[in-house]
Amino acid sequence: MTTIRPSRPDDAAAILVVVSDAFADDTRDATEELAIVRRTWSACPLPDRIELVAVADGAVAGHVLAAPGRLDARATAVAGVAPVCVAPAYQHRGIGSALVAELIRTAEERNWPLLVLLGDPAFYGRFGFESAGPLGLDYAPAGAGNPHFQARRLPGSSGARRGAFSYCWE
Ligand SMILES: CC(C)(COP(=O)(O)OP(=O)(O)OC[C@H]1O[C@@H](n2cnc3c(N)ncnc32)[C@H](O)[C@@H]1OP(=O)(O)O)[C@@H](O)C(=O)NCCC(=O)NCCS
Repeated sequence: MTTIRPSRPDDAAAILVVVSDAFADDTRDATEELAIVRRTWSACPLPDRIELVAVADGAVAGHVLAAPGRLDARATAVAGVAPVCVAPAYQHRGIGSALVAELIRTAEERNWPLLVLLGDPAFYGRFGFESAGPLGLDYAPAGAGNPHFQARRLPGSSGARRGAFSYCWE
């Protein structure tokens, strides 16, 4: 059985193992993703961020993290997501989808207006993420109009939320 729950401080080591195992393959290691997770932990302590783990067979098997960032260098409730990941042995069982769905539900509860991320539109599109550029949001490191920079509008997303996004750790 798999459960999704908020992360706890004593999950940290297991989370880093899952991030590493999920993102590394024959062609790359997971240095970048591990750095994003560690920097988010430093820049945005709990409870200001949303961090969820999936627990399967008694151990952490999946992870997702989101934290408010900046728009045009000003603090905003628009939150950047560290890409969802699931340990290879547990993929294709719905765990990644469950983590994203719970992230969206929790972000709505907090009245965050938007989630943004860099990721594959083929995966995130099914959860209502759309290209962020047409919404007036850009992320300079990705390059203008990059379809991988995506946003999920939440019910709290009224008013203008446009500008250059940066993550809390940048
Ligand atoms: C992406 C990932 C989180 C999906 O986790 P999961 O638990 O296997 O996801 P689910 O079982 O909920 O599958 C959801 C769907 O996503 C699809 N999918 C999985 N990985 C995908 C990817 N990289 N791009 C597009 N679609 C993907 C699955 O095929 C499945 O589609 P289907 O139901 O039509 O067959 C997992 O494969 C992973 O950790 N990958 C490595 C890390 C990564 O690339 N994360 C960022 C994703 S852009």
